[in-house]
Amino acid sequence: MARLSSVVLAALLSTIVTATDLAACGDAQYDPSKDTCFDNNFLCPIDGEVRELRCGDACYSLDQFSCSNTALVDNAVIGLDTLLDCGDKRFNSTDYVCHDGDFLCPFVCIDGLSRCLTGTFDRRATLRCADACYDPVKFSCIDDELHGLPPPNTNCLPLGGTFMGAPTCCPGLLAVADHCRDFCDFSPQLCSEVPG
Ligand SMILES: *[C@@H]1O[C@H](CO)[C@@H](O)[C@H](O)[C@H]1NC(C)=O
Repeated sequence: MARLSSVVLAALLSTIVTATDLAACGDAQYDPSKDTCFDNNFLCPIDGEVRELRCGDACYSLDQFSCSNTALVDNAVIGLDTLLDCGDKRFNSTDYVCHDGDFLCPFVCIDGLSRCLTGTFDRRATLRCADACYDPVKFSCIDDELHGLPPPNTNCLPLGGTFMGAPTCCPGLLAVADHCRDFCDFSPQLCSEVPG
């Protein structure tokens, strides 16, 4: 118990939480690089790039399912005209995720893009922290408070980056001549605006 308390205290005193620090999720300790803590008591795994989300008492992957209120819906049965429920609101699962059955959070595009390419792999869902939505790549939520995370350690070039030789642009960016460019500037018809 003393050990758990000191971990929680250290996390609270620090505004920067590194990915390898253990954090508390209710009575459990977890590695935030391997799991996400929902509602201070429910862990869902992070499998590579795929962060599973909570839906009722299940964890789900956005490339297979969406969450309507607290029930899973197979993406295969969601048509272009399907809206899902989130408490007293209805939402388009291309633009939002429903947390806790009544709290909508928008998707954000991968870094450097103002619009997302059509498809799921270039966007990530924001999570709930008390009454806010946050990008889990930039913040962590500890006891309902947001804490900044250090920038992810990537070797890829951001928007506007220049390269010599083989291009190493970050995912979603297009290598044009010696620059990393926003794909959406070239093919706006394949891109969609995201809210927020
Ligand atoms: C949801 O958003 C997508 C992409 O913008 C759009 O094609 C689809 O028609 C929308 N669905 C509804 C029900 O509004």
